[in-house]
This record gives sequence, C-alpha cells and structure tokens, in this order.
Amino acid sequence: MIQCAIVPVAGYGTRLLPATKSQPKEMLPVARKPIVQYVVEELVANSVQRILFVTGRNKSSIENHFDQDPELTRLLNAGSRQELIEELKFEDLQAQFYYTRQRFQRGLGDAVLCGDSFAGERPFVVALGDSILGLHANSRSVARMAEVFEARRASCIIAVEEVPREEVSHYGIVRPAGGAGEDCFRVADVVEKPSPEAAPGNLAIAGRYIFSPLVFDMIRRVKPDARGEIQLTDAIRGLCEEGKRVLALRLPPGEKRYDIGNFPSYFEAFVEFALADPVHGPGFRRTLERLLGEPSGLS
Ligand code: UTP
Repeated sequence: MIQCAIVPVAGYGTRLLPATKSQPKEMLPVARKPIVQYVVEELVANSVQRILFVTGRNKSSIENHFDQDPELTRLLNAGSRQELIEELKFEDLQAQFYYTRQRFQRGLGDAVLCGDSFAGERPFVVALGDSILGLHANSRSVARMAEVFEARRASCIIAVEEVPREEVSHYGIVRPAGGAGEDCFRVADVVEKPSPEAAPGNLAIAGRYIFSPLVFDMIRRVKPDARGEIQLTDAIRGLCEEGKRVLALRLPPGEKRYDIGNFPSYFEAFVEFALADPVHGPGFRRTLERLLGEPSGLS
C-alpha cells in the first residue's frame, strides 16, 4: 500500500486568467466542489493517508479549505442547518495534510522535488491538483497502479488515456516499448507536448503517477527547458534511458481524466459534473435543452 501523495498546486494557471489572478485554479469549483477536493477525496479512497501540497503565493485558500472551521460549524448547528453541515463532512477525511512552498514556479519536476524529504525512502503518488479522474471522484486507478507498481517492482507507473491525435500537443505522450494492446505496458520514452506529426502515439499522461524515490536524483539531473522549467516528463524519460522499469496503466473504459488547465476543458467538466448532480442535474439538463433549442441560444 502506498500511503504518501504529493499534490503540486503551485502553478500560476495563466491559461485560466483572469479567474486565477488571485485565487488558485485548483480551487475553482467544478459543480459543487473545488477541483482539489475531488483530488483529495479520490486519494483517500485509494488508501493514501498523508498528502503534501506543494503550494505557492496566493494558495492559502487551499490550506483553509482542508482545515476545520469551528465557527462556521457552530453557526450552522445554531441554525439547525443539518443538510449544510453534511457539506463540511470532508473536513473529517482520514488524512494528514502537509504543506510546503515552491518558491519559484520552475515547473512540475521542480514542484515534485519539493517533496523529497516528505517522501523519504518510500514510493509515493503524484496527483496533479488540477486533474480529476472519473465523474464522482470514484476512481480506483491509483490503488490499481499501486498494486501493479509493487507486483512488478517498477520504478515508475503512469496513468494514461487515449486522446484525439490533434490534441497530443497539450499533453505528455508515452511511447510504448512494445505493443500497447494490454491495459498495462512498458514505456520506452515520454515526450512533453509533441506536435501531432512528431508524437509517438496518442496515449497521454493522465495526471497520476507513482514513483520510487530514485526519481528525485533524476529530477536533480534534468536540465531546464527553453522556458526555464524542470519537466517531470524529462525525469521519466531519464528513468527510461537508464533502463529503469517505467510502466503505463490505461484508465479503465468510461473513466475520463478532466484536465482543468484551460477554459474549454473547464467548461466541459463543469457542465458534465453539473448534469450528474443528484439534486440539480435534472433541472440543469432541462435548462441546457431549453437554451440549446432557442434560436439565439447556444445552437
Ligand atoms: P500546469 O502544467 O497546468 O501549469 O500544471 P500551470 O503553470 O499551473 O498552468 P499555466 O500553463 O500557467 O496555465 C499542472 C499542475 O502542476 C502544478 C500546477 O499547480 C498544476 O496543479 N505546478 C505546475 C506546480 O505546482 N509548479 C509549477 O512550477 C508548475
């Protein structure tokens, strides 16, 4: 069982400006909850017990969100607003939270390196704070990844999903060592945001990884890219080059990765989650249908 996870949330989120000018993109709501709450609930449901957030400036609302708020609870209790108290149940999640700051936003690899002493000698999960797996955060992919990681003595395992060929330039793309027909296969290389022509396929890294701690040394050896960022994919590429066992596990059918890094995918995720809301979903569906049917509406 892998109990530690690093959740990088220090990026500027420039593609979502102005929404992210003074608030973290990881706190933007997707239907009822902020993105990062789905991520944490998923991790806890996958046996993770210790979570390190790698934060930066303007990110303190994440700490506040996962802290207890006795005053708010008292207020809701005094008003007998039980249904709203239920909404704060996530405060009791069985996880310990830790925070560290990435002082300069030097890329995802650098953010993960901030978790070096937290992870120590144990394997650990990396879960991107802006990516949700599955509709109701009921994904069991991290637990499956942990089983395979341990059974096959891997150095790294990456969750992957197929993306349309024309979208590969938004993602890290894996090159399978042999066939990629199985759910789980060995990775020969990873390429960060390739052009569709240069891409070694259309299997994209889906925002969840498990690493052995030897990745930290590899990250230290990665040279910054043209934008001065230390890319996590370059460290994974280094592991492949050194012959370390790097595996990929496909997300199960029907389990989508929601990458909330840009407006089109944010809008799509919000609408899909809102439609799936047990209380408001059916009404929202009718509203959408009405809007789509209006000549001056969305059609
Ligand atoms: P992104 O690659 O989407 O980067 O990060 P970003 O910098 O937030 O977004 P843009 O490109 O400016 O719009 C994926 C995850 O990694 C974190 C982000 O917070 C996000 O959750 N990250 C990224 C860091 O923690 N530190 C970094 O230096 C970069």
